[in-house]
Amino acid sequence: MKILISPSILASDFSRLGEESQRMQSAGADWLHIDVMDGHFVPNITLGAPIVKSLRKRCDLVFDVHLMISEPLKYVGDFVAAGADIITFHAECDNDIDEVIDKIHSLGCKAGLAVKPGTDASAVLPYLKKLEMVLVMTVEPGFGGQSFMHETMPKLKQIRDICKAENLDVNLQVDGGIAEKTVSVAAENGANVFVAGSAVFGSDDPKAAVSMLRDLAEKNFC
Ligand code: DX5
Ligand code: ZN
Repeated sequence: MKILISPSILASDFSRLGEESQRMQSAGADWLHIDVMDGHFVPNITLGAPIVKSLRKRCDLVFDVHLMISEPLKYVGDFVAAGADIITFHAECDNDIDEVIDKIHSLGCKAGLAVKPGTDASAVLPYLKKLEMVLVMTVEPGFGGQSFMHETMPKLKQIRDICKAENLDVNLQVDGGIAEKTVSVAAENGANVFVAGSAVFGSDDPKAAVSMLRDLAEKNFC
């Protein structure tokens, strides 16, 4: 699987989102992770489709939209129209999972399904064959800058092992607390897409931070 680095704009300067997204492009990031929170599914509110639409004009990176919202079915159309390339929503949301995946695909977009740290792998397994990505949250969703939860690693490995056994080419993403000290263990357990907020945006040299994460992930991925 290709190793992909997806800096999270949650850690950026929100007054300069255009420049911040371009800064990630220059730093050699593969994707741009856009955290959407509704103040209901998680206790925080971030941004909506109009901002994604504005950013689309300023940045060529793959837009990796992470919906931490209760009703993704209502909003996926807006995010696809705004320029999302892949939309990940949560297995713990209020909508029918098959229906949301089918809607995203019908709009010509890729679909990912996320699980919170406390949610079992069984919540995503029935959908593996129709997903482009599974996101194993390595922190509780809602805020940037939290500590990586090592206890999520067995679940990540379980999902990667099933993908291997069934010959499924599904991207496995990790999100939360990914940095120099944690990227390797996540790669060892099967992650190939790495969201990093603080570790990249907070670095004096984002280019060096992206290549350090990429090198460690490539060395340790299995
Ligand atoms: C948390 C978000 C993450 C967050 C990661 O709810 O989904 O994408 O921005 O931030 P860091 O890398 O700082 O933990
Ligand atoms: Zn996220």
